[in-house]
Amino acid sequence: MGMYAVQLPKRVVFGEGVEEKIGAEAKGLGAKKALIVTDATIEKTGLLEKVENPLKEVMEVDVFDKVEPEPALGAAEAAAAAARAAKCDLIVGVGGGSVMDMAKVASAAASNPERGVSDFLGANKIANPSVPKILVPTTAGTGAEATSFALVIVEDKKKAIASPYNLADVVLIDPTFTATMPPKVTASTGMDALSHAVEAFLSTGSNPLTDSFALEAIRKIADNLEEVFSHGDNRDARLKMALAAMLAGMAFGNAGVISGHAAAHTFGAKYKIPHGVSAALVLPYMMEYNAVEIGVKEKLAKVAREMGEDISRMTDEEAASKAVARVKGLLEKLDLPIRLADLNVPKEDLPELAEAMSKEKGYLARNPRKIEHEDAVKMFERMWSGE
Ligand SMILES: [Fe+2]
Repeated sequence: MGMYAVQLPKRVVFGEGVEEKIGAEAKGLGAKKALIVTDATIEKTGLLEKVENPLKEVMEVDVFDKVEPEPALGAAEAAAAAARAAKCDLIVGVGGGSVMDMAKVASAAASNPERGVSDFLGANKIANPSVPKILVPTTAGTGAEATSFALVIVEDKKKAIASPYNLADVVLIDPTFTATMPPKVTASTGMDALSHAVEAFLSTGSNPLTDSFALEAIRKIADNLEEVFSHGDNRDARLKMALAAMLAGMAFGNAGVISGHAAAHTFGAKYKIPHGVSAALVLPYMMEYNAVEIGVKEKLAKVAREMGEDISRMTDEEAASKAVARVKGLLEKLDLPIRLADLNVPKEDLPELAEAMSKEKGYLARNPRKIEHEDAVKMFERMWSGE
Protein backbone atom coordinates (compact mmCIF):
# COMPACT_ATOMS: atom_id res chain seq x y z
CA MET A 1 0.00 0.00 0.00
CA GLY A 2 1.63 3.20 -1.18
CA MET A 3 -0.44 6.29 -1.83
CA TYR A 4 -4.09 6.47 -1.04
CA ALA A 5 -6.79 9.10 -0.84
CA VAL A 6 -10.35 9.42 0.42
CA GLN A 7 -13.15 11.69 -0.73
CA LEU A 8 -15.82 12.68 1.77
CA PRO A 9 -18.74 15.11 2.02
CA LYS A 10 -17.58 18.64 2.83
CA ARG A 11 -19.51 18.99 6.06
CA VAL A 12 -21.50 16.59 8.26
CA VAL A 13 -23.75 17.91 11.01
CA PHE A 14 -25.12 15.28 13.35
CA GLY A 15 -27.70 15.41 16.13
CA GLU A 16 -31.35 15.57 17.12
CA GLY A 17 -33.13 18.63 15.67
CA VAL A 18 -30.24 19.41 13.32
CA GLU A 19 -32.70 20.05 10.43
CA GLU A 20 -33.85 23.23 12.20
CA LYS A 21 -30.49 24.74 11.23
CA ILE A 22 -30.97 24.08 7.52
CA GLY A 23 -31.66 27.76 6.77
CA ALA A 24 -28.23 28.79 8.03
CA GLU A 25 -26.58 25.90 6.23
CA ALA A 26 -28.32 26.84 2.96
CA LYS A 27 -27.35 30.49 3.36
CA GLY A 28 -23.79 29.40 4.07
CA LEU A 29 -23.76 27.83 0.61
CA GLY A 30 -24.85 31.15 -0.91
CA ALA A 31 -28.19 29.74 -2.09
CA LYS A 32 -31.26 31.78 -3.03
CA LYS A 33 -33.70 29.15 -4.22
CA ALA A 34 -33.94 25.50 -3.23
CA LEU A 35 -35.54 22.41 -4.72
CA ILE A 36 -36.33 19.67 -2.21
CA VAL A 37 -36.11 16.21 -3.79
CA THR A 38 -38.08 13.58 -1.89
CA ASP A 39 -40.80 10.91 -2.21
CA ALA A 40 -44.44 10.71 -1.21
CA THR A 41 -43.85 8.60 1.93
CA ILE A 42 -41.54 11.23 3.46
CA GLU A 43 -44.34 13.75 3.27
CA LYS A 44 -46.70 11.33 5.07
CA THR A 45 -44.24 10.76 7.93
CA GLY A 46 -44.09 14.53 8.56
CA LEU A 47 -40.34 14.64 7.92
CA LEU A 48 -40.69 16.79 4.79
CA GLU A 49 -42.22 19.72 6.63
CA LYS A 50 -39.56 19.49 9.34
CA VAL A 51 -37.01 20.35 6.65
CA GLU A 52 -39.17 22.49 4.37
CA ASN A 53 -40.52 24.91 7.00
CA PRO A 54 -37.22 26.22 8.38
CA LEU A 55 -35.84 26.45 4.84
CA LYS A 56 -38.85 28.47 3.65
CA GLU A 57 -38.09 31.07 6.29
CA VAL A 58 -34.96 32.09 4.40
CA MET A 59 -35.63 31.29 0.73
CA GLU A 60 -38.05 30.22 -1.95
CA VAL A 61 -38.54 26.44 -1.98
CA ASP A 62 -39.97 24.09 -4.62
CA VAL A 63 -40.65 20.42 -3.90
CA PHE A 64 -40.24 17.43 -6.23
CA ASP A 65 -41.77 14.46 -4.40
CA LYS A 66 -41.94 11.87 -7.18
CA VAL A 67 -38.80 9.85 -6.55
CA GLU A 68 -39.49 6.13 -7.04
CA PRO A 69 -37.70 3.31 -5.24
CA GLU A 70 -34.73 2.03 -7.30
CA PRO A 71 -35.28 4.67 -10.01
CA ALA A 72 -34.80 3.84 -13.66
CA LEU A 73 -33.47 6.27 -16.27
CA GLY A 74 -36.92 7.74 -17.03
CA ALA A 75 -37.55 8.48 -13.34
CA ALA A 76 -34.11 10.06 -13.05
CA GLU A 77 -34.85 12.25 -16.08
CA ALA A 78 -37.99 13.48 -14.29
CA ALA A 79 -35.91 14.57 -11.28
CA ALA A 80 -33.44 16.26 -13.62
CA ALA A 81 -36.24 18.09 -15.46
CA ALA A 82 -37.68 19.29 -12.14
CA ALA A 83 -34.30 20.73 -11.15
CA ARG A 84 -33.94 22.59 -14.46
CA ALA A 85 -37.51 23.92 -14.31
CA ALA A 86 -37.06 25.14 -10.73
CA LYS A 87 -34.07 27.31 -11.71
CA CYS A 88 -32.67 26.61 -8.27
CA ASP A 89 -29.17 27.01 -6.91
CA LEU A 90 -29.54 24.44 -4.13
CA ILE A 91 -30.82 20.86 -4.02
CA VAL A 92 -31.97 19.34 -0.73
CA GLY A 93 -32.52 15.56 -0.69
CA VAL A 94 -34.74 14.23 2.10
CA GLY A 95 -35.22 10.44 2.11
CA GLY A 96 -33.53 7.07 1.66
CA GLY A 97 -30.85 6.01 -0.79
CA SER A 98 -32.92 6.41 -3.94
CA VAL A 99 -33.90 9.96 -2.96
CA MET A 100 -30.32 10.90 -2.22
CA ASP A 101 -29.18 9.46 -5.54
CA MET A 102 -31.85 11.48 -7.35
CA ALA A 103 -30.83 14.62 -5.43
CA LYS A 104 -27.32 14.06 -6.82
CA VAL A 105 -28.71 13.68 -10.34
CA ALA A 106 -30.87 16.80 -9.91
CA SER A 107 -27.93 18.89 -8.73
CA ALA A 108 -25.86 17.77 -11.73
CA ALA A 109 -28.75 18.48 -14.11
CA ALA A 110 -29.24 22.01 -12.73
CA SER A 111 -25.70 22.99 -13.71
CA ASN A 112 -25.55 20.93 -16.93
CA PRO A 113 -28.76 21.96 -18.68
CA GLU A 114 -27.67 20.65 -22.09
CA ARG A 115 -27.05 17.10 -20.87
CA GLY A 116 -29.41 14.18 -20.30
CA VAL A 117 -28.99 11.80 -17.34
CA SER A 118 -27.57 9.07 -19.61
CA ASP A 119 -24.69 11.45 -20.43
CA PHE A 120 -23.71 11.33 -16.73
CA LEU A 121 -23.42 7.50 -16.59
CA GLY A 122 -19.92 6.23 -15.90
CA ALA A 123 -16.95 7.81 -14.17
CA ASN A 124 -16.38 11.57 -14.18
CA LYS A 125 -18.93 12.32 -16.90
CA ILE A 126 -20.58 15.30 -15.18
CA ALA A 127 -19.02 18.24 -17.03
CA ASN A 128 -19.83 21.31 -14.91
CA PRO A 129 -19.71 21.12 -11.10
CA SER A 130 -23.16 20.34 -9.69
CA VAL A 131 -25.10 23.03 -7.82
CA PRO A 132 -24.62 22.71 -4.04
CA LYS A 133 -26.62 20.05 -2.25
CA ILE A 134 -27.67 19.22 1.28
CA LEU A 135 -28.55 15.58 2.00
CA VAL A 136 -30.85 14.61 4.87
CA PRO A 137 -31.05 10.79 5.20
CA THR A 138 -34.15 9.18 6.69
CA THR A 139 -32.82 5.61 6.71
CA ALA A 140 -29.68 4.16 8.28
CA GLY A 141 -28.36 1.90 5.57
CA THR A 142 -27.38 2.92 2.08
CA GLY A 143 -24.73 5.41 3.16
CA ALA A 144 -25.59 7.34 -0.02
CA GLU A 145 -25.23 10.58 1.96
CA ALA A 146 -21.49 9.90 2.14
CA THR A 147 -20.67 8.61 -1.34
CA SER A 148 -19.83 10.07 -4.74
CA PHE A 149 -22.08 7.65 -6.65
CA ALA A 150 -25.67 7.80 -7.81
CA LEU A 151 -27.24 4.54 -8.98
CA VAL A 152 -29.74 4.40 -11.83
CA ILE A 153 -31.41 1.30 -13.30
CA VAL A 154 -30.71 1.05 -17.02
CA GLU A 155 -32.27 -1.95 -18.81
CA ASP A 156 -32.71 -3.88 -15.54
CA LYS A 157 -29.11 -3.25 -14.49
CA LYS A 158 -27.80 -0.90 -11.82
CA LYS A 159 -25.48 1.64 -13.40
CA ALA A 160 -23.41 4.15 -11.49
CA ILE A 161 -22.87 7.84 -12.04
CA ALA A 162 -19.55 8.31 -10.28
CA SER A 163 -18.26 11.83 -9.83
CA PRO A 164 -16.77 13.92 -7.03
CA TYR A 165 -19.53 16.42 -7.89
CA ASN A 166 -21.99 13.92 -6.38
CA LEU A 167 -20.53 14.46 -2.92
CA ALA A 168 -22.75 16.44 -0.58
CA ASP A 169 -21.78 19.94 0.51
CA VAL A 170 -23.64 19.40 3.76
CA VAL A 171 -25.07 16.22 5.30
CA LEU A 172 -27.63 16.76 8.05
CA ILE A 173 -28.23 13.62 10.10
CA ASP A 174 -31.01 13.66 12.66
CA PRO A 175 -31.06 10.06 13.96
CA THR A 176 -34.67 10.46 15.10
CA PHE A 177 -35.64 10.65 11.40
CA THR A 178 -34.67 6.99 11.04
CA ALA A 179 -37.14 6.04 13.80
CA THR A 180 -39.92 6.33 11.19
CA MET A 181 -38.61 3.15 9.51
CA PRO A 182 -40.70 0.03 10.19
CA PRO A 183 -38.77 -2.98 11.63
CA LYS A 184 -38.48 -4.75 8.25
CA VAL A 185 -36.84 -1.71 6.63
CA THR A 186 -34.69 -1.12 9.71
CA ALA A 187 -33.42 -4.69 9.40
CA SER A 188 -32.68 -4.73 5.67
CA THR A 189 -31.12 -1.26 5.51
CA GLY A 190 -29.04 -2.02 8.60
CA MET A 191 -27.74 -5.21 7.01
CA ASP A 192 -27.02 -3.29 3.80
CA ALA A 193 -24.80 -1.01 5.89
CA LEU A 194 -23.07 -4.06 7.39
CA SER A 195 -22.46 -5.47 3.91
CA HIS A 196 -20.95 -2.12 2.83
CA ALA A 197 -18.60 -2.14 5.80
CA VAL A 198 -17.50 -5.78 5.40
CA GLU A 199 -17.13 -5.58 1.60
CA ALA A 200 -15.17 -2.31 1.84
CA PHE A 201 -12.93 -3.87 4.50
CA LEU A 202 -12.18 -6.91 2.30
CA SER A 203 -11.86 -4.83 -0.89
CA THR A 204 -8.46 -4.61 -2.55
CA GLY A 205 -9.22 -0.87 -2.75
CA SER A 206 -9.23 -0.51 1.05
CA ASN A 207 -6.75 1.64 2.92
CA PRO A 208 -6.10 2.44 6.61
CA LEU A 209 -8.68 5.25 6.62
CA THR A 210 -11.46 3.23 5.02
CA ASP A 211 -10.57 0.31 7.33
CA SER A 212 -11.08 2.47 10.40
CA PHE A 213 -14.48 3.63 9.10
CA ALA A 214 -15.47 0.05 8.21
CA LEU A 215 -14.45 -1.57 11.50
CA GLU A 216 -16.16 1.09 13.58
CA ALA A 217 -19.31 0.66 11.48
CA ILE A 218 -19.20 -3.15 11.97
CA ARG A 219 -18.86 -2.75 15.74
CA LYS A 220 -21.75 -0.29 15.98
CA ILE A 221 -24.05 -2.38 13.79
CA ALA A 222 -23.29 -5.57 15.74
CA ASP A 223 -24.06 -3.72 18.97
CA ASN A 224 -27.22 -1.92 17.88
CA LEU A 225 -29.03 -3.46 14.91
CA GLU A 226 -31.00 -6.09 16.85
CA GLU A 227 -31.98 -3.43 19.36
CA VAL A 228 -33.36 -0.96 16.79
CA PHE A 229 -35.16 -3.86 15.09
CA SER A 230 -37.03 -4.83 18.26
CA HIS A 231 -37.14 -1.41 19.97
CA GLY A 232 -37.39 1.18 17.20
CA ASP A 233 -37.80 4.00 19.70
CA ASN A 234 -34.38 3.48 21.33
CA ARG A 235 -32.81 6.83 20.41
CA ASP A 236 -29.29 5.97 21.43
CA ALA A 237 -29.30 2.82 19.30
CA ARG A 238 -30.85 4.73 16.36
CA LEU A 239 -28.11 7.35 16.68
CA LYS A 240 -25.39 4.70 16.57
CA MET A 241 -26.96 2.99 13.56
CA ALA A 242 -27.17 6.32 11.70
CA LEU A 243 -23.51 6.94 12.46
CA ALA A 244 -22.59 3.38 11.43
CA ALA A 245 -24.42 3.65 8.10
CA MET A 246 -22.63 6.90 7.29
CA LEU A 247 -19.23 5.45 8.30
CA ALA A 248 -19.90 2.40 6.14
CA GLY A 249 -20.77 4.80 3.30
CA MET A 250 -17.47 6.62 3.82
CA ALA A 251 -15.69 3.25 3.71
CA PHE A 252 -17.27 1.81 0.56
CA GLY A 253 -17.52 5.23 -1.08
CA ASN A 254 -13.73 5.06 -1.27
CA ALA A 255 -12.74 1.37 -1.05
CA GLY A 256 -15.68 0.15 -3.14
CA VAL A 257 -17.95 -2.83 -2.60
CA ILE A 258 -16.98 -6.19 -4.07
CA SER A 259 -18.49 -9.53 -5.16
CA GLY A 260 -21.35 -9.37 -2.64
CA HIS A 261 -22.92 -6.36 -4.30
CA ALA A 262 -22.09 -7.76 -7.75
CA ALA A 263 -24.22 -10.81 -6.87
CA ALA A 264 -26.94 -8.87 -5.03
CA HIS A 265 -27.52 -6.50 -7.93
CA THR A 266 -28.26 -9.37 -10.33
CA PHE A 267 -31.22 -10.94 -8.54
CA GLY A 268 -32.27 -7.73 -6.77
CA ALA A 269 -33.03 -6.02 -10.07
CA LYS A 270 -34.49 -9.14 -11.77
CA TYR A 271 -36.96 -10.12 -9.05
CA LYS A 272 -37.54 -6.64 -7.57
CA ILE A 273 -36.14 -7.61 -4.19
CA PRO A 274 -35.29 -4.65 -1.90
CA HIS A 275 -31.58 -3.91 -2.16
CA GLY A 276 -30.89 -4.38 1.55
CA VAL A 277 -32.53 -7.82 1.54
CA SER A 278 -30.40 -9.00 -1.40
CA ALA A 279 -27.15 -7.52 -0.07
CA ALA A 280 -27.81 -9.08 3.36
CA LEU A 281 -28.53 -12.54 1.94
CA VAL A 282 -25.30 -12.62 -0.07
CA LEU A 283 -23.04 -11.37 2.73
CA PRO A 284 -22.20 -14.63 4.60
CA TYR A 285 -21.64 -16.57 1.35
CA MET A 286 -19.38 -13.82 0.03
CA MET A 287 -17.37 -13.93 3.27
CA GLU A 288 -17.06 -17.75 3.08
CA TYR A 289 -15.94 -17.64 -0.55
CA ASN A 290 -13.20 -15.11 0.17
CA ALA A 291 -12.06 -16.58 3.50
CA VAL A 292 -9.56 -18.98 1.89
CA GLU A 293 -7.59 -16.14 0.30
CA ILE A 294 -4.35 -15.04 1.96
CA GLY A 295 -4.97 -12.01 4.17
CA VAL A 296 -8.77 -12.36 4.14
CA LYS A 297 -8.97 -14.87 7.03
CA GLU A 298 -7.10 -12.40 9.19
CA LYS A 299 -9.45 -9.62 8.17
CA LEU A 300 -12.52 -11.75 8.89
CA ALA A 301 -11.03 -12.54 12.32
CA LYS A 302 -11.01 -8.79 12.94
CA VAL A 303 -14.64 -8.64 11.81
CA ALA A 304 -15.48 -11.31 14.42
CA ARG A 305 -13.61 -9.32 17.06
CA GLU A 306 -15.51 -6.12 16.20
CA MET A 307 -18.74 -8.12 16.44
CA GLY A 308 -17.88 -8.79 20.07
CA GLU A 309 -16.33 -12.27 19.82
CA ASP A 310 -13.40 -13.16 22.04
CA ILE A 311 -11.01 -14.45 19.38
CA SER A 312 -7.91 -14.61 21.61
CA ARG A 313 -7.91 -18.42 21.69
CA MET A 314 -9.05 -18.98 18.14
CA THR A 315 -7.03 -19.52 14.98
CA ASP A 316 -7.75 -16.98 12.25
CA GLU A 317 -9.66 -19.72 10.46
CA GLU A 318 -11.91 -20.38 13.45
CA ALA A 319 -12.46 -16.66 14.01
CA ALA A 320 -13.32 -16.16 10.33
CA SER A 321 -15.92 -18.96 10.56
CA LYS A 322 -17.26 -17.30 13.67
CA ALA A 323 -17.73 -14.02 11.74
CA VAL A 324 -19.69 -15.89 9.05
CA ALA A 325 -21.81 -17.63 11.69
CA ARG A 326 -22.52 -14.32 13.42
CA VAL A 327 -23.75 -12.75 10.18
CA LYS A 328 -25.98 -15.79 9.48
CA GLY A 329 -27.30 -15.59 13.03
CA LEU A 330 -28.06 -11.91 12.59
CA LEU A 331 -30.06 -12.61 9.42
CA GLU A 332 -32.15 -15.16 11.33
CA LYS A 333 -32.75 -12.87 14.29
CA LEU A 334 -33.84 -10.09 11.94
CA ASP A 335 -36.24 -12.40 10.08
CA LEU A 336 -34.38 -11.86 6.81
CA PRO A 337 -34.19 -14.57 4.12
CA ILE A 338 -31.00 -16.60 4.10
CA ARG A 339 -31.57 -18.66 0.91
CA LEU A 340 -32.52 -17.63 -2.62
CA ALA A 341 -35.01 -20.51 -2.61
CA ASP A 342 -36.90 -18.67 0.17
CA LEU A 343 -37.29 -15.72 -2.22
CA ASN A 344 -38.80 -18.00 -4.88
CA VAL A 345 -35.87 -17.49 -7.22
CA PRO A 346 -36.20 -20.36 -9.74
CA LYS A 347 -33.26 -22.77 -9.58
CA GLU A 348 -32.98 -22.83 -13.37
CA ASP A 349 -32.19 -19.09 -13.33
CA LEU A 350 -28.93 -19.57 -11.39
CA PRO A 351 -26.59 -19.89 -14.42
CA GLU A 352 -28.06 -16.72 -15.90
CA LEU A 353 -27.56 -14.86 -12.59
CA ALA A 354 -23.97 -16.13 -12.37
CA GLU A 355 -23.41 -14.92 -15.91
CA ALA A 356 -24.77 -11.47 -15.02
CA MET A 357 -22.55 -11.37 -11.93
CA SER A 358 -19.46 -12.20 -14.02
CA LYS A 359 -20.17 -9.08 -16.08
CA GLU A 360 -19.90 -6.82 -13.01
CA LYS A 361 -16.20 -6.38 -13.76
CA GLY A 362 -15.69 -3.28 -11.63
CA TYR A 363 -16.88 -4.97 -8.43
CA LEU A 364 -15.09 -8.24 -9.16
CA ALA A 365 -11.79 -6.49 -9.88
CA ARG A 366 -11.70 -5.35 -6.25
CA ASN A 367 -12.61 -8.77 -4.86
CA PRO A 368 -9.68 -10.28 -2.96
CA ARG A 369 -10.22 -13.78 -4.47
CA LYS A 370 -10.55 -14.23 -8.20
CA ILE A 371 -14.02 -15.27 -9.33
CA GLU A 372 -14.31 -17.33 -12.51
CA HIS A 373 -17.69 -18.06 -14.02
CA GLU A 374 -17.77 -21.57 -12.43
CA ASP A 375 -17.07 -20.00 -9.04
CA ALA A 376 -19.99 -17.62 -9.53
CA VAL A 377 -22.26 -20.56 -10.43
CA LYS A 378 -21.19 -22.43 -7.28
CA MET A 379 -21.72 -19.34 -5.14
CA PHE A 380 -25.26 -18.94 -6.50
CA GLU A 381 -25.99 -22.64 -5.90
CA ARG A 382 -24.91 -22.27 -2.27
CA MET A 383 -26.98 -19.10 -1.88
CA TRP A 384 -29.97 -20.91 -3.33
CA SER A 385 -29.83 -23.98 -1.12
CA GLY A 386 -28.25 -22.39 1.95
CA GLU A 387 -25.48 -25.00 2.12
FE1 LIG B 1 -25.72 -1.66 -0.72
